[in-house]
Amino acid sequence: MINLTKTIAAFMFLIGMSHLSYAQKAKKQNNQLANKEAFIQELITKMTLDEKLGQLTLYTSDMSVTGPVMRDNYKQDIISGRCGNIFNAYTPAYTRKLQDLAMQSRLKIPLLFGYDVIHGHKTIFPIPLGESCAWDTLLSEQSAKIAAAEASADGLHWTYSPMVDVARDPRWGRVAEGSGEDPVLGSAIARAKVKGYQGSSLKNKESILSCVKHFALYGAPVAGRDYNTVDMSMQNMFNVYLPPYKAAIDAGAGSVMSSFNEINGVPATANKWLMTDLLRNQWGFKGFVVTDYTSINEMVNHGNVANEYEAGVAALNAGIDMDMQGAVYMTYLKSAVEKKAVKITDIDAAVYRVLDAKWQLGLFEDPYLYCDENRAKKSIMTPSNLQAAEETAIASMVLLKNENKILPLKNEGQIAFIGPFIKNKRDLIGNWSGAGNWTQASSLWDAVVAKTAGKANISYAMGANVTDDTVLIQKMHIQEFIDKRSSETLINEALTVASKATIVVMALGESEGMSGEAASRSDIGIPANQMLLLKAIHALGKPIILLLSNGRPLTLSWENDHIPAILETWFLGTQSGPAICKVLFGDANPSGKLTMSFPRSVGQVPIYYAAKHTGRPFDNSQKYTSKYLDIDNTPLYPFGFGLSYTQFNYSNFKLNQTQYKVNDTIVACIEIQNTGNRDGYETIQLYVQDLVGSSTRPVKELKKFAKVALKAGQSKQVCFKLTTDELRFYNANMERVLEPGTFKLFIGKNVVDVMETTFELSGQ
Ligand code: NOJ
Repeated sequence: MINLTKTIAAFMFLIGMSHLSYAQKAKKQNNQLANKEAFIQELITKMTLDEKLGQLTLYTSDMSVTGPVMRDNYKQDIISGRCGNIFNAYTPAYTRKLQDLAMQSRLKIPLLFGYDVIHGHKTIFPIPLGESCAWDTLLSEQSAKIAAAEASADGLHWTYSPMVDVARDPRWGRVAEGSGEDPVLGSAIARAKVKGYQGSSLKNKESILSCVKHFALYGAPVAGRDYNTVDMSMQNMFNVYLPPYKAAIDAGAGSVMSSFNEINGVPATANKWLMTDLLRNQWGFKGFVVTDYTSINEMVNHGNVANEYEAGVAALNAGIDMDMQGAVYMTYLKSAVEKKAVKITDIDAAVYRVLDAKWQLGLFEDPYLYCDENRAKKSIMTPSNLQAAEETAIASMVLLKNENKILPLKNEGQIAFIGPFIKNKRDLIGNWSGAGNWTQASSLWDAVVAKTAGKANISYAMGANVTDDTVLIQKMHIQEFIDKRSSETLINEALTVASKATIVVMALGESEGMSGEAASRSDIGIPANQMLLLKAIHALGKPIILLLSNGRPLTLSWENDHIPAILETWFLGTQSGPAICKVLFGDANPSGKLTMSFPRSVGQVPIYYAAKHTGRPFDNSQKYTSKYLDIDNTPLYPFGFGLSYTQFNYSNFKLNQTQYKVNDTIVACIEIQNTGNRDGYETIQLYVQDLVGSSTRPVKELKKFAKVALKAGQSKQVCFKLTTDELRFYNANMERVLEPGTFKLFIGKNVVDVMETTFELSGQ
């Protein structure tokens, strides 16, 4: 191994540092840094151009993929130093085998193993959109930490997470992978995720390198169609869409993934302004940038370059370090260097950044650091990991409706359980569940059988397949899960079961493949065949509790009008069944709040709370106002909305002052009381409206939130501190300004149900 002695010496230095004074430590750290720089620079001088391009190349192994496998000879490429990074390969045994190949290469540079560890590795947590509804950054950090511990025990160094794309169009299937529509909440979760994955040091074997994606604006494709064009004003970019990426980078994320989309005419992967001017020069990002899957090659389709050679040149010159799966750098950059279309110094800088990540992960000290079979056996799917997954699943559910307190369900009488998600396991772990194994998930039915034993009588009918759209069934590869009997037969069977029951629990929704990548939908309702079932059961006149499994906001107007209780359960992961069962029967109290508005109709999308007034604000009595003829402007369920089995009363809302100057702190306090007879959690939200701005301002913007636990009857005072800096925004000249004037400040249960006051800000 290259310079192993030197490296080990540096490592020993570090170990010995715990007894040293701060000044001594700083000196040693500087030495270590100098050591790292010298080591990497020296290594680069030894590398051929092919070996350098190898470090900038990432290939998929043949384990599992999300696109075409283009290189079946990647193993030979590893040995020849022409591939320095692999994704879709895990387990200590398999990564060890591949690392052995790298150790046969001339310079023995260790491989970096990446993977989509999106919401858990083997213990699967709720889909990110669901988890964001917990509004709990400690839970977000914890799930990332557990994912990192499991993934690193399973041979992995690097996760393609967090996805921090703000998304305001529920047709886009990938809303499932993000934290919803709001930049402030999205930024808080982005920070928590990076912290959870990377811990305090990447040298810690239990942490992995995170990769912020998809840089940038991937969540805003025109018409919600995946991979589509993004066309956005700079103001919207900087005020709304960019903050979560920036937050993740400020939190120390070690890598960034470029997005597939173009931004105002230039694909992100060739966007020098984005990748170099903004990301590196303005934000100070020091890690490396990897493309998304073949996104360099795809520039030929975008039409900003004529061929892959030009695409590679554009990407490298824009500041992209690593080529995922496309083999463009490896194929074309050598001739680009010869033709002086790219600079060797830029290639060296990119190589440096990749080697730096490997150094930080400790791979030069021990390439097999993460290939420990014993650790894998001890750390994956442990009881405490499963417990954390269940806790997170409970916190992610959102109670959308609960007429006459029909929930929690009493464990008595005859309860019919109907729908394709009652016994289903296949869908529970959701999209992008990577190494997760759905057969290890617990179904609702299993949990309910245990819960009701000796108490309520339960019966079951599936009633409908997830969908009867044969094309969709084929696309989602779910043929084997489809009951071949006719819809009519399935519904009749369900009617027979339901007619004997006192209450009916129905579990309906989307299959996991209906959201996620390449899964945009133009109709975001519950699939038609399931709606037929729901309406048929409803016609029996029995009380119905509707449990929803889905990866995006759905249109639920009919359901809201006719069904007394609706619980949003998303895809909650490995522990779905027990978690839902606990909320259903009241062993846990739901506390989730929506992080995306639920539209009344797909015609309203994109829909989001932080909209502008317009010059003709909504007024139903006036014809020429900004509205639809056939539907209200408001969403069915607003941002921040979610019920509990208890009630919370807000009172004593006050500010420390009503007049503020720049740099003052605005302190807003509220008293909150749990007035019901159950313990519960409430997420208190603080919004601001800047009434007059040199650029128009949204009607409300979330600025702060706090989740508090309150015992039945308990009261607490909650105070938020808001700095005047948090009132800044990018104006039309792209200056981040703070403008004096009158502001409204709102505190409440959701964006609509708020108390409000005003304050004045003076000075600049
Ligand atoms: C494509 C997806 O857009 C990205 O999120 C993912 O990380 C890569 N494929 C790798 O699987």
